[in-house]
Amino acid sequence: MAQHDGDTGAAAGSELVKSPGREVSPGTAVIAPDAFENPGLPPHSDRVTDLDPKKEKEAERVVAGMFALSIVGTVMAIVAYIVVPIEPGDLNSTRLNNLFVGLGIALALIPIGIGAIHWAKNLMTYVEMTEARHGTRGTEETRAIAANVFTLGNQESGFNRRKLIRNTLIGALALSPLPAVVLFRDLAPAADPVPLLKTTLWDKGIRLAKDPSGTPIKASEVTLGSVFHVIPDNLADAEHPLEEKAKAAVLLMRLKPEDLNVSAGREDWNYDGIVAYSKICTHVGCPVALYEQHTHHLLCPCHQSQFDITQEAAVIFGPAKRPLPQLPITVDAEGYLVARSDFTEPVGPSFWERSL
Ligand code: FES
Repeated sequence: MAQHDGDTGAAAGSELVKSPGREVSPGTAVIAPDAFENPGLPPHSDRVTDLDPKKEKEAERVVAGMFALSIVGTVMAIVAYIVVPIEPGDLNSTRLNNLFVGLGIALALIPIGIGAIHWAKNLMTYVEMTEARHGTRGTEETRAIAANVFTLGNQESGFNRRKLIRNTLIGALALSPLPAVVLFRDLAPAADPVPLLKTTLWDKGIRLAKDPSGTPIKASEVTLGSVFHVIPDNLADAEHPLEEKAKAAVLLMRLKPEDLNVSAGREDWNYDGIVAYSKICTHVGCPVALYEQHTHHLLCPCHQSQFDITQEAAVIFGPAKRPLPQLPITVDAEGYLVARSDFTEPVGPSFWERSL
C-alpha cells in the first residue's frame, strides 16, 4: 500500500509531477512517468505476395478455392439431409443424418472464414497504421474521410477487381443459409395438430391400465389417497405407442366422494370418488406427476402450475390457463375401471386453440 508524505503529497517510490500553473493538492495528483518507452512500429517488410505476382495469383486461387469448397459443403448438407433421412424409431439413421448434415454445414462455414482470413493477410493492402484516440464523433471533414474509407477499402481489397474471389464469396455466402431453410422447413408439423390432439386412444370400454406394466386396474385396488399413473389397455396395439401415450397418459386418484365438487353433466364421470385426469399439463405439456394427497393438489414441476382435484382440476396457481381435461370413467362387469368415452376436450397445451 502506498505511503503518503504529509508535506508534499508524493507517494513513496513515485515522482511528483506538477503541471505548470496548476496547484496540486497533497496526496492526490501523483502522475507516474511512463513505465516503458514507446518502441514504435517494427520496420515494414513486404509479403511474398507483394513481391511475386505468381504467389499473388496462387493466394487468389486458394481463397477462391475455399469459397468454392464452402459451396460444396452447402450442397453436401442438403443432399445428406435428403439421402440419409431420419427414420422414426431408428436411432442409427438419426446419428448418420446428424453426422453428415453437420459435416456439410461445417464444410460450408469454415472455409468461408479461412478464405476471408487468407484474403486479408495475403492479398489486401498491407500497411502499418497508428490511430490516435479521439472523441467518438469526428468533424464533418473526418466523417467525410471515413465515408471515403469504404470506397478505399473496396479498392484496396480488390473486391471489384478480383471478380473470381468476389463471385465465389457471394455464391458461398448466398448458399450457406440454405441448409437452415431445409432443416427448419421440416420442423412444421406434417399434419394439422388440432385433430391429432382432439382424439386419443381412450374410448368407451377401454380399461385403465398401470403404467408401464399395462396391468388393468380394478376399482377395489384404488384406495383413498392413492394415485396411479395410467395408460389405455390397448396402448401396446397402437401403431405409434409412444405418440399415443404422450396424449393418453392419465392420473388416477381416489378422494372421498363428498370432497368432490362435481359440475352439472359430470355426475357420472367419477366412480365412487375415483377420478381420472389428463397427465399432460395445459400450460406447455409437461407431465403433471406430483400429487399431494392432503390438499388434493396436483403440481406440474415445470413451471409450478397447480390444479385442485376437488374442483375438477381447476388451476389454482401458475401459468396454466385451463383445467386438466377429465376422463369420464366407470367400471365394467368384472370390476375393472374403464373409460366412458374419450376426453371431451383436447389434451395438452392450449396455445393452438385459444378459445379453450
Ligand atoms: S408445463 Fe406445466 S406449468 Fe408449465
